Amino acid sequence: MNRTILVTGGAGYIGSHTCVALLEAGYSVVVADDLRNSKEESLKRVEKITGKPVPLYPIDVSDEIALDRVFGQHHFDAVIHFAGLKAVGESVAEPLLYYRNNLNATISLLSCMLRHHVNVLVFSSSATVYRDITSPISEEQEKGCTNPYGWTKLMSEQIITDTVKTNPNLSAILLRYFNPIGAHDSGLIGEDPNGIPNNLLPYITKVAGGKLDKVHVFGNDYDTKDGTGVRDYIHVVDLANGHLAALDYAFSHTGTEAFNLGTGNGYSVLEVIDAYRKASGAEVPYVIDPRRPGDVAQNFANPKRAHDLLHWEAKRDIMNMCATSYHWQQLNPNGYEES
Ligand code: NAD
Ligand code: WQD
Repeated sequence: MNRTILVTGGAGYIGSHTCVALLEAGYSVVVADDLRNSKEESLKRVEKITGKPVPLYPIDVSDEIALDRVFGQHHFDAVIHFAGLKAVGESVAEPLLYYRNNLNATISLLSCMLRHHVNVLVFSSSATVYRDITSPISEEQEKGCTNPYGWTKLMSEQIITDTVKTNPNLSAILLRYFNPIGAHDSGLIGEDPNGIPNNLLPYITKVAGGKLDKVHVFGNDYDTKDGTGVRDYIHVVDLANGHLAALDYAFSHTGTEAFNLGTGNGYSVLEVIDAYRKASGAEVPYVIDPRRPGDVAQNFANPKRAHDLLHWEAKRDIMNMCATSYHWQQLNPNGYEES
């Protein structure tokens, strides 16, 4: 049976990789993305990789009238909801921008789903919803956030959970991603942040590609293996496949379920820099700077629930994450810009 999935935010980093996975698994996709943090070129690349069409509606998902029109033109079997703003620092500076965009997008989407009897939703949540930072983190651990971005994820989870409770035909999966990195093996799609990256891997990638001088390591006095921050980096292709597993599960269940998508392994900043050097053969100079406010020492997943119920696990290691990231950088030194 050919199923059609609406992918909101599908032109973005994780969305574009997930579109590839969906198309390769035999789904059709329709993307709703106003391109505020992405380029249409990413979807052209998805079409190139898969040889399949990716219709794009360049709409603001929180514009319910525009979104309803898209629902009126297709029969969707499910929605994967990536659309949202995601920069933690920006969310502290502009909280209303984040609450307005991320919450309205979720509410507008759920309203359209109910109106058009679309019963299956997979939502991009984040490990940032956990208050208790004792790792490994399991899904039941206490929730609470340190910034507005995180709250929009936790609040969206609540909005989805409450909506599903009163609509027993609905099935929603909340996927709490850890630290997605890497790129598609083709090197045609990857992460293309605007300006100077906030996150470690895009920063390292720019240093390795000669676009930035050196990596600033935020603190080496944490209580971790080498004093630098430890995170659960997960390859974006593994993450994309996690969405396929979540859809399979959602099509045969109702109610709301949350899953961590992580590897269960923690790597320190210095270990990642070292892996990147080895995987790329490039120089990655760094300096130790003070801690970044708000950072925790370590954060990694207990991914057992996803193993047990979704029959999914991350397969790619840190070397592959770094190698594919570098490959993307080498083929696209200016991201999607040049095309
Ligand atoms: P991204 O910015 O590359 O992709 C998000 C896409 O959503 C962009 O293409 C953007 O243009 C679009 N968008 C934003 N608001 C929109 C709106 N109102 N209407 C239409 N389109 C809109 O980010 P990503 O890294 O691919 O993240 C995808 C999702 O996963 C986000 O919801 C993010 O919060 C979540 N997430 C990301 C990470 C990460 O580290 N990358 C970690 C955990 C969760
Ligand atoms: C990783 C490690 C830094 C940059 C963020 C969001 C989280 C989620 C994923 C969306 C930390 C260190 C970083 C640099 C460094 N996103 N670092 N120099 O903070 O774990 O998670 O992205 O949901 O919500 O908070 O990721 O890549 O920024 O940092 O030393 O230039 O690298 O201190 O230890 P983080 P990150």
